[in-house]
Amino acid sequence: MKKLIPIISVLIATTSLVAQNIAIPHLQKNGNATQLIVEGKPFLVLGGELHNSSTSGAAYMGPIWEQMKSKNLNTVIAPVYWELLEPQQGNFDYSLVDSMVYGARNANLHLVILWFGSWKNGYSMYAPGWVKSNTEKYTRAKNKNGESYQMLSALGSNAMKADANAFKMLMTHIRSIDEKYQTVITVQMENEMGLFYGPREYSDEASKAFNGKVPDDLMKYMLSNKGKLQPEIDSAWKANGYKGSGSWEEVFGKSSVSDNKNWQALSYLPEELFTSYHYAKYVGQVAAAGKEAYPIPMYVNAWIKQPGFGSPGRYPAGGPVPHTLDIWRSEAPAIDFISPDIYTTMNVAQYTMEQYHRAGNPLFVPEFKPGIQSANMAFWAYGQHDAICFSLFGIDESKPADDPITKTYAAIAQVQDLILSNQGKGTMAGIYLDSTNTHQSFKLNGYSIRATITGTSALELAYNPNAKKVMAAGGIIIATVPDEFIIVGTDFSLTFTPLKPDASRPLLDVEYTDEGNFVNGKWTATRRLNGDEGTGGGDYGFGFGNNKAALMRFQKPPNGDYSIVKFKIYRYK
Ligand code: DGJ
Repeated sequence: MKKLIPIISVLIATTSLVAQNIAIPHLQKNGNATQLIVEGKPFLVLGGELHNSSTSGAAYMGPIWEQMKSKNLNTVIAPVYWELLEPQQGNFDYSLVDSMVYGARNANLHLVILWFGSWKNGYSMYAPGWVKSNTEKYTRAKNKNGESYQMLSALGSNAMKADANAFKMLMTHIRSIDEKYQTVITVQMENEMGLFYGPREYSDEASKAFNGKVPDDLMKYMLSNKGKLQPEIDSAWKANGYKGSGSWEEVFGKSSVSDNKNWQALSYLPEELFTSYHYAKYVGQVAAAGKEAYPIPMYVNAWIKQPGFGSPGRYPAGGPVPHTLDIWRSEAPAIDFISPDIYTTMNVAQYTMEQYHRAGNPLFVPEFKPGIQSANMAFWAYGQHDAICFSLFGIDESKPADDPITKTYAAIAQVQDLILSNQGKGTMAGIYLDSTNTHQSFKLNGYSIRATITGTSALELAYNPNAKKVMAAGGIIIATVPDEFIIVGTDFSLTFTPLKPDASRPLLDVEYTDEGNFVNGKWTATRRLNGDEGTGGGDYGFGFGNNKAALMRFQKPPNGDYSIVKFKIYRYK
């Protein structure tokens, strides 16, 4: 009888989500935010993307799943390769897919699948040999001299149908092994698609289409969304008289090229929108085929427009950059949102995330360059932009102890429920500071708050002359009730000044600063920070001087972890 008990509890624990009637992973609005719902609850992706070839070997991946868990990820972003899924046309091999799904599930991780189908970084390197070698059937994009590029043509319906068929088979299989468990939570369609070398394809068919009319489906979408379109498209259309029909240049204006220094300006706009139209239509049909089998969220990612890569063709033309969002919405309704891959300076990174976080387009960052600045920027993305996902690329490159993201995710994991319940409400802010961005100011919970990066203190240096220089500081601040905040971070201080001073109690002080942890969502204070460790005095210097503002400063835990504090201000006269 005794033996039966564990068996029964395993059965209870594995009662399927399908049997419980829990919806498959999907997106849901919450206030101004869009959330990813997994196993019936909002889910924050603490992600990392594997190197391109890692999941092509099940044995190679063996130890990596646990390594990912040790980095405190909850989700691994990993490719499935068309060439290995369908090595001969119509013969499907799911063994690698199975190894990924089971490997992730056994390590208690979720998966975002990258569908390396027709395009990866513009090129068609992951299409199977039977596609790549048959250029008659699976046509290539062509340059102005009629020469083929390596890339499949976005106008090629045969390749699109073959890709859609393979992708549908993949999603059918994933549903069959995973619907019960929801290990796979989202799918990225293709990878950084788009055309290099120029803004559009130049085959006879492509040139004829470009010189012809803007297709009816796009025109209809624009007319019915007039006034609600992305500002870049709307202003180009408006400047050309809001025409209800016409060629790409008649509707969006003559092509112009900005000098390369002005990387934000739009070059080759009509060609770019034309190219986006064809990529979106192609990929939209592939995604729709997959969704017929298993309609979980699907997105596309971009090689972004950035300094040095300011014009389409320098970055893959037709890829999902923010000013083309309406083309994606019109032509690829099966695509739920567009995403940026970020390998740039932190200032451009912040600008890029702002650009992608647009009405109805949540921020989901599948690739961010690794490093200490990035590990701090993660806080800003989640706290400031309600990011569904932040993820570093090449996450299997480094050991957990060497990767600064390990500590970031350990801290964020503790407050993830709080983050999720504050998304879209204006009750949360993200902080990012470094040597060129030493201050950040914002308003929250009735206060004007100024964050300042802090250096290594004299006391710290006295004990440890080799103490590391502070390279970057990131954090999240959440307003709980009036005058109280939960703050996650280290290496920055905060000054709180009331937006509306209370004439009857004009002075401010700290009621308490408690350092602690969240365990299973429940707050436990571990220390009360006061005296030397508070903000009134100690090694920090006396803070009582300005009693019209309240001050918060972290105590650095000796192991280099981020701190979590509960901080309350009171007023007096
Ligand atoms: C961006 C791509 O999307 C990734 O697959 C990878 O190639 C990285 N670049 C490499 O930096």
